[in-house]
Amino acid sequence: MARIAYVNGRYLPLTDATVNIEDRGYQFGDGIYEVFYAYRGRLMDETLHFARLERSRGEIGLASPMGAAALRVVIHELMRRNRVETGLVYLQLTRGVAKRDHVFPGPVPRPALTITVRPKPEPPEALDGWSAGAITLADERWGRCDIKSINLLPNVLAREAAKQAVALEAILFDKAGMVTEGASSSVWIVGADNVLRTRGLDQHVLPGCTRAAVLEDVATEGLDFREEAFSLEALRQAREVFITSATSFVKPITALDGVPVGNGAPGLIANRLYARYLARLKEG
Ligand code: PDD
Repeated sequence: MARIAYVNGRYLPLTDATVNIEDRGYQFGDGIYEVFYAYRGRLMDETLHFARLERSRGEIGLASPMGAAALRVVIHELMRRNRVETGLVYLQLTRGVAKRDHVFPGPVPRPALTITVRPKPEPPEALDGWSAGAITLADERWGRCDIKSINLLPNVLAREAAKQAVALEAILFDKAGMVTEGASSSVWIVGADNVLRTRGLDQHVLPGCTRAAVLEDVATEGLDFREEAFSLEALRQAREVFITSATSFVKPITALDGVPVGNGAPGLIANRLYARYLARLKEG
C-alpha cells in the first residue's frame, strides 16, 4: 500500500507529496517539527507534544495553520489512511513559500504543514533487547535548543558519528564539560550516590515530552532525584545511564565510548521507569 502524506490540506501519495523549492524550510530551515509515538491508535503524551509545538511556533513567530483539536483530527485521519495504529507521526511546520530573503516575508505566506506517519513496532516487554551504546561529543548546536527547530545538521552529524562508532546515540557536552542532552534524546544518570539526575530545562536542551512524563513516574516511584546539570565525568562514573524520547521511550545506555556503564546491563532504575512507561502506554 502506498504511503500517504498530509501536505497543506491534502492527503497525497508520498511520491506526489512535494514542497516548493522556495519553501523557507527548504531554503533556511525556517521551521519547527514534532515527533509523536502513536500506540494502538493513541498519541502518547499528546498534550505535551501539542503544547511544545505551540511554544516552538510562538518562539519563532510562525502563524498557526490550525489548532491542536483540528491537528489531532488530521493526524488520526492520516493514520487511518496509512493503516498505521502504532508508529511515528512526523509533523513539520515551516514559514511557507516566499522569494528567498532572510527577513520574514511580507505579506505573510501560509505556513506549510506536512505530516507523515510510519509504523514502528511496539516497545519490547523487557529492557534486555532495548539497550544501546552511546558516544560522547562536544555540543556544537546553537543557543536555542529549547526550540524544536528543523535545523538539525549538528544533530545529524552527531548521530552519524555515533553510528560510525557502532553506537546509537551521541551524548553532548558543553564548553564547561556539562552534559546537555543526546543528539535526539534527553539524558539521565544514576550516580554513585544513587541519585537520579537529569539536567534542568534551559535554552541548551529541548524540553522533552517523554522527560516530562517520566518525571511524574519518578515522583510516583519515590526515587531520589535531582533536576540538575551533571558533568561528563559524572556521566562516565554513573551506575546507570538512560535516554528518553518519543522514539526511544526509556532506553538504557549500557556502554559509553566503548566502556561499559556499571555492569554493562540495564540498571534497576531504568527497569522501574521503563515498566512505568509501558504501563502508561497501555493505560492510555
Ligand atoms: N527527538 N532532545 C532532542 C535534541 C531531541 O531531538 C529529542 C526528540 C528529545 C526528546 O524529546 P521527546 O521526549 O519529546 O521525544 C530531546 C525526536 C524524537 C526526533 O528528532 O526524532
